Parts: sequence; structure tokens; C-alpha cells
Amino acid sequence: MRSSHITGLLCATLLSLFAATASAQPAAPATQAPSTPAHFANGGPETCLKCHNDAKVNPILQTPHATKGDPHAPFGQMGCESCHGAAGDHVESRANKPSVLFKGPNKSPAAARNEMCLTCHQNGLRMNWQGSQHANQDMACNDCHQVHVRKDPVLIKMSQAEKCFTCHAEQRSQVFRFSHHPIREGKVTCSDCHNPHGSPGPKLLKEVTVNETCYNCHAEKRGPLAWEHEPVRENCLTCHTPHGSNQPRLLVQRPPYLCQECHSNSSHQANPQSGQQLPGKTGFNGAISTNFRSFARGCVNCHSQIHGSNSPAGMWFTR
Ligand code: HEC
Ligand code: HEC
Ligand code: HEC
Ligand code: HEC
Ligand code: HEC
Ligand code: HEC
Ligand code: HEC
Ligand code: HEC
Ligand code: HEC
Ligand code: HEC
Repeated sequence: MRSSHITGLLCATLLSLFAATASAQPAAPATQAPSTPAHFANGGPETCLKCHNDAKVNPILQTPHATKGDPHAPFGQMGCESCHGAAGDHVESRANKPSVLFKGPNKSPAAARNEMCLTCHQNGLRMNWQGSQHANQDMACNDCHQVHVRKDPVLIKMSQAEKCFTCHAEQRSQVFRFSHHPIREGKVTCSDCHNPHGSPGPKLLKEVTVNETCYNCHAEKRGPLAWEHEPVRENCLTCHTPHGSNQPRLLVQRPPYLCQECHSNSSHQANPQSGQQLPGKTGFNGAISTNFRSFARGCVNCHSQIHGSNSPAGMWFTR
């Protein structure tokens, strides 16, 4: 009994609400009533700018989006509504919102926002957006991009990383380590190695593999070399870390420990020519030689061509 009474009440309330809304707003915006086709405003961006010519909105006029002569640009098409969707009802009454809102408590779902941008920006860098790590997290283009500014900070080398760090705190702490790619210095930035829009390779890397990404700038490591060091060909990250390290040269560990992961300490022979005791070689009593620590760079003092060698006698990477 009780529940049917409530249902009845609810129905009545809903009905009267519906009637009230229907009479007050004959044409509700598309987001609320998809069955009513939203209509576009007349008069282009000027119509909107009559009310919105303020510092929050009008810097867009200085961006490529506002190039009226460009048939590919929003202002060469539907003006503000190329992104915000139909807003004719909003012009008529502020009680109605434009179809697509990018900001604020009523913002549209990420998919609806992205669809607007992707109508023009589907290809190029965004070939792999669908299914990418960021898209799968329900991220929107405007989680990174700002369009109502003269120059979008995420497109500027010096300020891009700050934007990424808002979510990637671990990488921020890494680039503050002793050895780091010069990201803080503004010489290298995240998008030099990553394509944040999606990638056919791992970890949103710009290239299909880690090594291909590194070769973009460290071309001399690409080879082919007469004497290759296997792990170098396989993956630079066997020995290096990309963002920052407390070891010199972005190493994951210092030599000799780094090398001894694969080259067991005991297998290394003392250099017969020099008779010199090698670092890591143990003395009679099994204790590590004092000489061990005197090699500041450990193994790479002698094995200086650690990435491989082109010298005819480079088989040991010593030249
Ligand atoms: C007659 C004045 C007027 C015109 C014309 C106008 N707007 Fe608005 N618009 C407003 C006001 C006032 C608000 C703030 C409403 C609020 O805070 O609820 C607003 C809010 C907005 C918002 C933010 C809505 C939100 O809730 O976040 C967008 C986006 C917007 N307008 C886009 C447009 C576009 C696009 C046009 C042109 C097609 C346009 N406006 C034309 C007065 C106007
Ligand atoms: C290229 C797509 C695009 C175009 C064109 C565009 N906007 Fe926007 N608009 C956005 C995005 C994205 C946001 C979210 C805030 C941001 O990125 O700066 C936004 C935010 C807004 C807001 C809310 C501002 C705030 O800070 O609360 C208003 C109002 C607005 N736009 C009005 C307009 C008007 C008026 C025009 C035309 C003169 C226009 N927009 C053209 C994409 C666009
Ligand atoms: C109607 C087509 C259209 C829509 C919709 C559109 N753009 Fe653009 N956008 C362009 C054109 C054209 C350019 C200038 C040429 C270029 O750089 O590709 C541009 C340039 C850009 C740039 C580079 C700006 C610069 O200063 O170099 C970014 C970033 C961008 N758009 C992001 C967005 C985002 C984010 C959205 C959605 C909120 C969006 N665009 C919606 C057409 C569009
Ligand atoms: C995780 C942050 C992030 C997200 C999300 C993101 N972008 Fe970008 N976008 C960037 C960065 C960083 C660059 C600069 C890339 C470069 O310099 O190689 C860029 C560059 C661009 C450019 C200018 C370069 C070009 O391709 O012409 C456009 C346009 C663009 N993005 C559109 C979009 C659109 C559309 C979306 C949503 C589908 C989007 N972006 C989502 C970070 C992002
Ligand atoms: C020199 C190239 C390079 C630069 C510059 C770079 N990265 Fe990376 N990043 C990589 C590589 C390579 C990996 C893959 C690491 C792995 O597989 O262990 C990676 C991995 C990541 C990961 C995933 C980490 C994980 O453990 O899964 C995030 C997040 C990331 N980078 C963010 C950033 C941000 C943010 C910036 C800019 C501040 C940046 N990267 C700059 C090369 C780079
Ligand atoms: C709004 C938050 C946000 C921003 C801003 C952001 N990211 Fe992300 N990013 C994420 C989330 C969430 C993930 C998924 C994390 C996961 O899967 O563990 C991710 C994942 C990644 C990954 C790793 C992908 C993988 O396979 O593990 C990389 C690399 C990355 N982001 C780079 C960037 C770069 C570069 C920027 C700046 C241009 C950026 N991100 C900006 C939230 C963000
Ligand atoms: C966008 C260009 C670029 C890419 C891509 C790049 N690097 Fe670098 N790398 C640099 C620059 C610039 C330096 C600093 C050189 C200097 O200070 O002389 C550097 C320095 C280094 C150093 C020496 C660090 C030190 O403390 O001396 C190592 C190791 C290194 N990179 C490894 C890598 C690896 C591994 C990759 C691939 C994951 C990679 N780099 C990708 C530009 C790049
Ligand atoms: C087997 C471990 C190992 C691998 C794998 C490795 N490196 Fe290195 N790398 C080192 C060591 C050790 C140093 C320090 C050498 C020194 O201090 O003289 C170094 C130094 C560097 C430097 C700075 C000095 C220089 O030679 O320019 C760069 C750049 C570099 N590595 C890039 C790479 C790249 C790119 C890859 C992948 C193609 C790679 N490394 C793979 C061990 C390695
Ligand atoms: C991830 C494992 C790994 C790491 C770490 C590593 N190496 Fe190697 N190294 C190899 C492999 C595999 C070969 C090829 C072995 C073979 O052909 O018998 C090799 C070959 C060599 C050779 C040539 C001699 C030979 O037997 O072919 C020298 C010298 C060498 N490594 C020195 C070093 C030094 C010094 C370090 C530290 C900076 C180091 N390696 C780090 C795996 C590693
Ligand atoms: C004083 C110079 C010197 C130092 C320091 C040195 N090596 Fe060598 N290493 C050589 C020479 C020379 C050879 C050539 C083979 C030989 O003469 O025994 C060699 C050969 C090798 C070989 C291949 C032959 C074998 O014995 O397996 C490996 C692997 C190797 N070194 C690894 C290392 C590692 C790891 C370190 C650091 C713990 C290291 N080396 C430190 C000079 C040195």
C-alpha cells in the first residue's frame, strides 16, 4: 500500500515537473533531451562574444583556432559551437547550457568532449588514441590542453612537464635526482620520448621500442658495431633508467655491481699483461681487495667502450 502511494505521488510530481519544464523551456538543450534537436546560434562567434568578451574566454582569438580564413579551423566553421556544440538555446536563455561543457560541475562526459576535438584532430599524433592508456583512464583532451589561452602551456617545452607532474608525482621526484635527463633545464621534455596520445609501443613511447626511442637522440649508440654488447642491443634500460637516478649516468646501479649482475665476480681474470689486481678480485683470505674502491668508475675504467666497439681489437670493449 505504502509503496504504491509513494509511486503515485512520485508520478504526479514528475508529471507536473515535466509540464512546468515543458512550458518554461520549450526547447531544452540536447544534453538534457536528446530527442529535441538543439539549434545553433546565428551570427558566429560575435554573438557569443557580446557576453563572453572577457579574459577567461577571449585569448582564444589569438590562437590558430580563431583563424576565420582557415576552413579547417573552428572559426572557419561553426565558431565557438564547433567545440561547445549547439548553443542557440543558451543565447536565448542562460538557463540553457551549450551542448558540450568542458569545465565545471556540469561538464560533459570525457567521451562527448573528446568527440568534438577529434572531429578535427583524429589523425597524426592521435592515430592510437582509442584504447591508449590515457584514453582508458577516461581522460579528456582538456585534461592536458587549454584552448582559451594565447599559448597552451603543455605545448611549451619549459612548462609541459609541470602539467604531466600534476598526475605523475613519481616522475617529478625522479627528475630531481642527481643524474637526470635535462627536463628541469628545459632541454628535453616528456613528449620527446612519449606520445601522450597513444603509441603502438610500450609505455606510450614515441617509437615502437625503448631503444628506437633512445636512438632518436643518441644515434651513435645505434650501431651496427663490429663488437656488440648484447644487453645494449636488447634494451638500454637493462643498465639505465630514463628519468633520473642517484647513480651517475642514469645508471640503475654502479659498476662493478651493475656488471656483476651478469658477469660473475669470480670469472673475471686478472689482467695478465699488467699483472694488476682487478676490482672485485678477492684476496687470499677471500676479502675484497682494497684496490676495489680505488677504481672510481669500476669496470668501465678499462671497458670504456661499454656500448660496443668498432675497433678491430675491441672484442673486450676496452678500445
Ligand atoms: C546574452 C549573454 C550570453 C550570450 C549571447 C552567450 N552566453 Fe554563454 N553564458 C552567459 C552567462 C551569463 C553564463 C554564465 C551562466 C552561469 O554561470 O550559469 C554563460 C555561460 C557559458 C558557458 C559555461 C557554462 C557552464 O555552466 O560552465 C559556456 C561554455 C558558454 N556560455 C558558451 C557560450 C557560447 C558558445 C555562446 C554563443 C553561441 C554563448 N555562450 C552566448 C551569457 C551569454
Ligand atoms: C577549440 C575548441 C573551443 C572553441 C573554439 C571554443 N571553446 Fe570555449 N572552451 C573550450 C574548452 C576546452 C574549455 C575548458 C577550459 C579551457 O580549456 O580553457 C572551454 C571553456 C569555455 C568557457 C568556460 C570558461 C571558464 O573558465 O569557466 C566558456 C564561457 C567558453 N569556453 C566560451 C567560449 C566562447 C564564447 C567561444 C567562442 C568565442 C569558445 N568558447 C570557443 C573549448 C573551446
Ligand atoms: C573545427 C576543427 C577543430 C576543432 C573542433 C578543434 N580544433 Fe584544434 N586545431 C584546429 C586547426 C585547424 C588547428 C591549427 C592547425 C594545426 O595546428 O593543426 C588546431 C590547432 C590545435 C592545437 C595546436 C595549437 C597551437 O598553438 O599550435 C591544439 C593543441 C588543438 N588544436 C587542440 C584542440 C582541442 C583540445 C580541441 C577540442 C577542445 C580542438 N583542438 C578542437 C582545428 C580544430
Ligand atoms: C596526457 C596529456 C595529453 C592529452 C590527454 C592530450 N594531449 Fe594533445 N598534446 C599533448 C602534448 C604533450 C603535446 C605536444 C606533443 C609534441 O610536441 O610532440 C600535444 C599536442 C597536441 C596537438 C598539436 C600537435 C599536433 O598534433 O598537431 C594537438 C592538435 C593535440 N595535442 C590534440 C589533442 C586532442 C584532440 C586530444 C584528445 C583526444 C589530446 N590532444 C589529448 C598532451 C596531451
Ligand atoms: C629520455 C626519454 C624519456 C623522457 C624525456 C621521459 N620519459 Fe617517461 N619513460 C621513458 C621510458 C623509456 C619509459 C619506460 C620505462 C620502463 O619500461 O621501465 C618511461 C616510463 C614512463 C612512465 C611509466 C612508468 C612506469 O613505471 O610504468 C611514466 C608515467 C612516464 N614515463 C612519465 C614521464 C613524464 C611525465 C615525463 C616528463 C616529465 C617523462 N616520462 C619523460 C622515457 C622517457
Ligand atoms: C589527469 C592526470 C594525468 C595527466 C595530466 C597525465 N597523465 Fe599520464 N597517466 C595518467 C594515468 C591515470 C595513467 C595510467 C596509470 C596506470 O595505468 O598505472 C597514465 C599513464 C601514463 C604513462 C604510462 C603508460 C603505461 O603503459 O604504464 C605515461 C608514459 C604517461 N602517462 C605519460 C604522461 C605524460 C608525458 C603526460 C604529460 C604530457 C601525462 N602522462 C599527463 C594520468 C595523467
Ligand atoms: C630528446 C633527446 C633524447 C632522447 C630521446 C634520449 N636522450 Fe638521453 N640525453 C639527452 C640529452 C640532451 C642528455 C644530456 C647530455 C649532456 O648533458 O651532455 C642526455 C643524457 C643521457 C645520459 C647521460 C646522463 C648523465 O648523467 O650524463 C644517458 C645515460 C642517457 N641520456 C640515456 C638515454 C636513454 C637510455 C634513452 C632512451 C630511453 C635516452 N637517453 C633518450 C637527450 C635524449
Ligand atoms: C650493459 C650496461 C649498459 C647498457 C645496456 C647501456 N648502457 Fe649506456 N652506459 C653504461 C655505463 C656503465 C655508462 C657509464 C660509462 C662511463 O662512465 O664511462 C653508460 C653511459 C651512457 C651515456 C653517457 C656517456 C656516453 O657514452 O655518451 C649514454 C648517453 C648512454 N649510456 C646511452 C645508452 C643507450 C642509448 C643505451 C641503449 C642503446 C645504453 N646506454 C645501454 C652502461 C650501459
Ligand atoms: C644484463 C646482463 C649484462 C650486464 C648487466 C653486463 N653484461 Fe657484459 N655481456 C653480457 C653478455 C650476454 C655478453 C656476451 C657474452 C658472450 O658472448 O659470451 C657480454 C659481454 C661482455 C664482454 C665481452 C667479453 C665476452 O665474454 O664476450 C665484456 C668485456 C663485458 N660484457 C663487460 C661488461 C661490463 C664491464 C659490464 C658493466 C658495465 C657489463 N658487461 C654488464 C651481459 C651483460
Ligand atoms: C684494469 C683493467 C680492467 C678492469 C678494471 C676490468 N677489466 Fe675486464 N678485462 C680487462 C681486459 C684487458 C680483458 C681482456 C681479457 C684478459 O686479458 O683477460 C678483460 C676481460 C673481461 C671479460 C671477458 C673475459 C672474462 O674474463 O670473462 C669480462 C666479462 C670482463 N672483463 C668484465 C669485467 C668486469 C665485470 C669488471 C669490473 C668488475 C672488469 N672487467 C674490470 C681489463 C679490465
